[in-house]
Amino acid sequence: MANGKQIYTEDFYQEQARKLGLRARSYFKLEELDRKFRIVKRGQRILDLGAAPGSWSQFVLRKTLGDVHLTAIDLQEIEPFHREKVDPARVVLLKADVSDASLSLEGPFDVVLSDMAPRTMGVPSGDSALSAELVRLSMAVALKRLKAGGTLVAKYLQGAELPELQGEFRRDFASFKIFKPESSRRQSTEVFFTAWKR
Ligand SMILES: C[S@@+](CC[C@H](N)C(=O)[O-])C[C@H]1O[C@@H](n2cnc3c(N)ncnc32)[C@H](O)[C@@H]1O
Repeated sequence: MANGKQIYTEDFYQEQARKLGLRARSYFKLEELDRKFRIVKRGQRILDLGAAPGSWSQFVLRKTLGDVHLTAIDLQEIEPFHREKVDPARVVLLKADVSDASLSLEGPFDVVLSDMAPRTMGVPSGDSALSAELVRLSMAVALKRLKAGGTLVAKYLQGAELPELQGEFRRDFASFKIFKPESSRRQSTEVFFTAWKR
């Protein structure tokens, strides 16, 4: 404990993910974001971008007890959620590139989640530039597909683009916050924008 706050080790989240049958420890990042900003609610339509292997989608299905319409997209195959409580007719899994202009998506959505990450090159400036492009892609999808007042969550690997991105969120959304969950690896540069559409 430090400052009255429990400090969990990296292994703690790994171990918890295994115990809970989660597809990735990233689950805990969305759980923290949701605890802070109250994003995911029953009855919503939710779009999960960069969803594979599927732990954010699992969080959505578990939090809503399957009372949700979920569309999940990734370049990689997303395995069906047989072990989660949900009517399969309410879940659409797409193997596609989010930037594909011909992608047809049923909406509008209450929430757009993006944990999209580039194939990192190990060069911080290059990684952040690629990540910033994915943030912009998720912003474009959100501006087109979100209902008024809807919420966008987007991962960003921090770098020189941060001030510019903040300006774009300020210009295009009603408000936004930047948050780094405790469960995010300390050495990771990732942060998450949460933004609300006008
Ligand atoms: C960190 S992983 C997502 C983990 C996921 N949120 C989970 O909890 O299981 C990032 C994903 O973004 C996907 N991705 C990156 N660029 C993409 C794009 N243009 N379109 C679709 N998916 C993309 C990658 O294929 C990768 O699976």
